[in-house]
Amino acid sequence: MNQLAEHLVQGFSQTPKTLSSKYFYDAAGSRLFQQIMSLPEYYPTRTELGIFQEQGAAIGQALAAGAASGQPLAVVELGAGDGLKTKLLLRELLAQPVALTYVPVDISPSAIEELTSSLQQELPGLTTEPLVAEYGEALTALAAQPGAKAVLFLGSNIGNFAPAEQLDFLRNLARPLTPADRLLVGFDLRKDPRRIRAAYDDAQGITAEFNFNLLRRLNAEAGTDFRLEDWQHFPDYDPATGAMRSWLVSRRAQTVRVAEPAGQTFEIAAWEAIQTESSFKFTLPQITGLAAGAGLRVVQVFQDAAGDFADVVLAVAG
Ligand code: AVJ
Repeated sequence: MNQLAEHLVQGFSQTPKTLSSKYFYDAAGSRLFQQIMSLPEYYPTRTELGIFQEQGAAIGQALAAGAASGQPLAVVELGAGDGLKTKLLLRELLAQPVALTYVPVDISPSAIEELTSSLQQELPGLTTEPLVAEYGEALTALAAQPGAKAVLFLGSNIGNFAPAEQLDFLRNLARPLTPADRLLVGFDLRKDPRRIRAAYDDAQGITAEFNFNLLRRLNAEAGTDFRLEDWQHFPDYDPATGAMRSWLVSRRAQTVRVAEPAGQTFEIAAWEAIQTESSFKFTLPQITGLAAGAGLRVVQVFQDAAGDFADVVLAVAG
């Protein structure tokens, strides 16, 4: 059984049935996410880009703080995607007196291919060591980097983790770092709950397509027989916990067949909901607490004027 089919069997054995958002990002899903990033409702990318445009020089300095003049600085980015925002920071870092290497890591081979060729065009002087990998493998690559390190985890990707996993993940990220190294984490902040929900329920239905793409991918790669018209994209936001969740809701009672192993089937009730993504939203005190729990200290916080998004520079508490 392939990894995706195995994941489906495992996820559909839980209550509620769950699928991991990491499987969104095949080539079609990565393209849909790029479309999402330019939607009028989807504010996080635009907001973080604005922070980098306005405060990129200070952020670049904060990230390079641990590298002495002429010494190596490895910038490792987890979930680099199309690198649109990161290119701004890389331009700032190229102006610093350090020997820069950029290590973009992404789960999507097509995203890494496109990023690599766009970097060759736009920043030809940059040394790049791209890596197609999941986060776990990225941590191994991180530990292997010689010299000073700056780790980027942007776009509020951290919000895809449940709170306990956020803490574990930051702990693991902190482990290979020395007190001179820096971590830059993007956090989407709590705000008008209707704005948050709208960001995951756009009028053009691109986010719905992104969610449905998971079913398309399962049909193509795990031998399932999902009929997309039997499903509904349903996003909901809990302002008490900051949990933004996306669901696929079954419009009718149905049986889903997984080709392997031996035609395993799952019964799905009418209006049963499958959870496909969490995108947690944060408060600043929560971020400070999270950092402290992971053995990190907050070095500097960069925000947009409206306080919609925060890019937080962290370091291991030495
Ligand atoms: C790439 C994980 C940050 O959770 O906001 C966008 C993905 N999902 N619209 C997010 C996403 C639906 C996005 N992250």
